[in-house]
Amino acid sequence: MQARESNREDAPAPSGEIPRHIAIIMDGNGRWAQQRGLDRTWGHRQGVKALKPIVKEAARMGVEVLTVYAFSTENWRRPSQEVDVLMTLLVEFLARETAELKGEGVSLRTIGDIGRLPAGAQQSLAWARAETAEETRLILNLALNYGARDEILRAVNRWVGESGEKELTEDTLSRYLDTAGLPDPDLLIRSSGEYRISNFLLWQLAYAEIFISDKLWPDFDPAEFRQAIRSYQARNRRFGGLG
Ligand code: FPP
Repeated sequence: MQARESNREDAPAPSGEIPRHIAIIMDGNGRWAQQRGLDRTWGHRQGVKALKPIVKEAARMGVEVLTVYAFSTENWRRPSQEVDVLMTLLVEFLARETAELKGEGVSLRTIGDIGRLPAGAQQSLAWARAETAEETRLILNLALNYGARDEILRAVNRWVGESGEKELTEDTLSRYLDTAGLPDPDLLIRSSGEYRISNFLLWQLAYAEIFISDKLWPDFDPAEFRQAIRSYQARNRRFGGLG
């Protein structure tokens, strides 16, 4: 009988090249809750819980950067009660998990225009970032009030205001993006079976491999994460050349 893929912390890591940077669109919280007759916000609560084991697994495998889409520029259009719950969950997550993340060598950062988040969320983020600033094992990048078009426009406008240059190069734009200094994602994972980019890291995902998981995000677990990495390892990345 085939052994069921284990979620144990000592399950073997996929052998082969580990992606340096993995980006995740954590989709399907609402459907997870609705399937159970619960309010959508329960899906977000479960979604936050699903995140920690993935962060730990990524750190264990030697991934350098994990960028997760926690709140998009479009998510403000949701009912204010849902937005409030998401912001509260963020603050609770940081208060509850920062010490353990620090213990795992995780440095917490953000991308997105966080100046528009509620003051309490901004304070928690500043605190968590400072607490974990010295850690070097894994960067956990929370995309918050993030939209790739917004990011690119902010970058270009800042470049226009600061540089005095006439021509923008790929390298320069990359240095003005929120992800400055980070490698581009090698692998994009999206849960819940949807085949969309949803305004996530449009510039940085240029050559990323894509893995779509049918699991709704609250059900996404380390075994599925390893499955995504094995799928990545089986690809032949050519970056537009002949390989
Ligand atoms: C998409 O599910 C998910 C979101 C809009 C938010 C993702 C947020 C979390 C997983 C939790 C927040 C994270 C932190 C770190 C506090 P959806 O609501 O669009 O699901 P649906 O497509 O089934 O409706």
